[in-house]
Amino acid sequence: MSQSKQLHLNLNFLNAGTFASAWRWPTSQATDYADVQYYVRVAQLAEKGTFDSVFLADFPALSDRPEYRPFQSLEPTITLATIAAATRHIGLIATASSTYNEPYNIARRFASLDHASGGRAGLNIVTTADKQAGRNFGIAQPPAHHVRYERAAEFADVVKALWDSWEDDALVGDKEAARFIDTRKVHPIRHQGTHFSVEGALNVPRPPQGRPIVVQAGGSEDGMDFAARHADAVFSVAHSLPDALDYARDLRGRLVAQGRSPHDILIFPGLVTVIGSTEEEARRREEQLWELVPIEYGLQRLAGILQVDPKSLKLDEPLPDNLKLPADGMQTFFKGALTLAERGRLTVRQLIRAQGGGTGHRIIVGTPEQIAADIEEWFRSGAVAGFNVMPDVISSGLEAFVDHVVPLLRQRGIFRQDYSGTTLRDHFNLARPARLAAPPASIVPKLRSAAGA
Ligand SMILES: Cc1cc2nc3c(=O)[nH]c(=O)nc-3n(C[C@H](O)[C@H](O)[C@H](O)COP(=O)(O)O)c2cc1C
Repeated sequence: MSQSKQLHLNLNFLNAGTFASAWRWPTSQATDYADVQYYVRVAQLAEKGTFDSVFLADFPALSDRPEYRPFQSLEPTITLATIAAATRHIGLIATASSTYNEPYNIARRFASLDHASGGRAGLNIVTTADKQAGRNFGIAQPPAHHVRYERAAEFADVVKALWDSWEDDALVGDKEAARFIDTRKVHPIRHQGTHFSVEGALNVPRPPQGRPIVVQAGGSEDGMDFAARHADAVFSVAHSLPDALDYARDLRGRLVAQGRSPHDILIFPGLVTVIGSTEEEARRREEQLWELVPIEYGLQRLAGILQVDPKSLKLDEPLPDNLKLPADGMQTFFKGALTLAERGRLTVRQLIRAQGGGTGHRIIVGTPEQIAADIEEWFRSGAVAGFNVMPDVISSGLEAFVDHVVPLLRQRGIFRQDYSGTTLRDHFNLARPARLAAPPASIVPKLRSAAGA
């Protein structure tokens, strides 16, 4: 099976699981969310299933509903570095905010993770739409949606220029001649931009992958343009195959507009899985998980996505019809919720349930055969490179996926029997990028203007 015909699977590792009630499931421990060894065990299980990668989402703030469920807690690159030491192949992707970080720190952190893992690092650049994060950085009102993405674009340019600031053979290490580094092969980037001023070079040698994988996860206009320019992979939201085909067509068109090959990006829609040995058993499991979700949690989360007062949502009535696309919020999830509600003529209670354990992603409830067939259909359509797998409950749901769905995907000839490469780029079948000798155009003009050339 050629690499390019390979299905790709990433584990979207949301602490105890995708359902808000996952931590209350018998197989879950409430303390797991801050136990790094729990993350190591789960990553080892995903590696046993020859997943391409595990992904840790992140928010630089205490989640706004900690009373109900575990949240992203430990700093993700520390968790991934610990996982790197206990695994050999699985890719290690974590989120970093371009709004609440400096590019030099993030370039250094992910270059270090790439060295520590032998080339398995991936950086998911998000703009952090959540309001409460800003307050931890002295910012009362987060920047507007388009400003966040403008900053993210410059941030990505600077991070990549810093990764490229070393030539691969800069290390001399000549003890005789007392020459350690050939400084002619280490280049300052001297970036002067709208949001950042960064001298460089980075103080970490060029990463094993050249550049760690860059991921993006926002489906708005700005989000998709950002992905088309910078991302090697995207985490998307698609509730139907036609939606996924439309999204892929749109995104690939934007890559071509950026001078990239249309297939130079991997698309991973989220897929929440609830597995049973029979469909009835799977439906019963979903029912039990929902019974354990306090309905007010679902209501508050939906109100957060729609940016409305939870009191304005009546559980057994349809959504209010005066909802407006949040100018500064998470546009992807807003659009996803409205599409689901309109298509299914759902009440608020039904919509909360349709939102993949509350996450806004597509959910599939069924047997391993049903799930493998669904995955194969979407993969063979060409709309997706694979899936961002989101087990209902990590502890038992991932085990069921690895033990029962993965073997079926291998039998269908679409998924690897074993790893054939060592780096995340090998798994994603993406080449190691050549070093950009000069910073990208988006950086140079400002240099000239700064220098009054
Ligand atoms: C699979 C997936 C993972 C995400 N992970 C994070 C995350 O870790 N941290 C975060 O702040 N936002 C995360 N987001 C939210 C996106 O970054 C973005 O804010 C959201 O998709 C809305 O983007 P848009 O305004 O461009 O539509 C994620 C979104 C998706 C679909």
